[in-house]
Amino acid sequence: MIFAGNFKTNHTRVSTKRYIEDLNKKIEYAPTEHSIYIFPPLMAIDNYETSATIGVQNAYPAENGAFTGEIGLEQLEEFKIKTILIGHSERREHLRESQDIVSSKFNFFKENGFEIIYCIGEPLEIRDMGDDEVMRYLSAQFEGIDINYENLIIAYEPIWAIGTGRSATVEEISSTHKSLKEIVNKPLLYGGSAKPSNIQDIIAIDGVDGVLVGSASLSVNSFYEMINS
Ligand code: 13P
Repeated sequence: MIFAGNFKTNHTRVSTKRYIEDLNKKIEYAPTEHSIYIFPPLMAIDNYETSATIGVQNAYPAENGAFTGEIGLEQLEEFKIKTILIGHSERREHLRESQDIVSSKFNFFKENGFEIIYCIGEPLEIRDMGDDEVMRYLSAQFEGIDINYENLIIAYEPIWAIGTGRSATVEEISSTHKSLKEIVNKPLLYGGSAKPSNIQDIIAIDGVDGVLVGSASLSVNSFYEMINS
């Protein structure tokens, strides 16, 4: 199973360092066969020693250059970062990332051999229209994306379940993951209010290969409780 923690705009360099040290201690005490990923804010990226994979939540698709406020490949290479989240609904929505922007990021980081966790998800009004509409919406988020890329993980995150405390139901996750697996044969994570109290139900679902966790990953105890469940 894959357990990925997306800190979003939470934690500092100091608290991220402490978090990773605490996580290391827990893993050392009780080694896990699961794959763990942490996505701290860019300001907290550093040379951490850990068996968890450290990735970034975003970067600009250029090696370097005149892109004020952005970071590119050169800055990631300094910290040997080779994993990136692309297509998160918060970037699509708040940062106005169109499918064109998302796919150009995808192609750039693919060309540079990054492991990509590619996020897709539908808003509530689409979910309310039924499964066919959901799949039409999600399929459009694969436009311009090489779904056969060898270093690709998909994260299905229904927007209405993100940060709301209301996870998708087992039936919703199960049917959507089943349909997605027919389109893309890659590890498939679920994200959206995954937490210690529902993690066992979620990872027991056929077609779920792991979780991408926001709020419940912010505390190392809660995140580790999920991994250890
Ligand atoms: P929450 O776990 O806070 O709902 O966030 C999910 C998410 O967006 C992870 O990328």
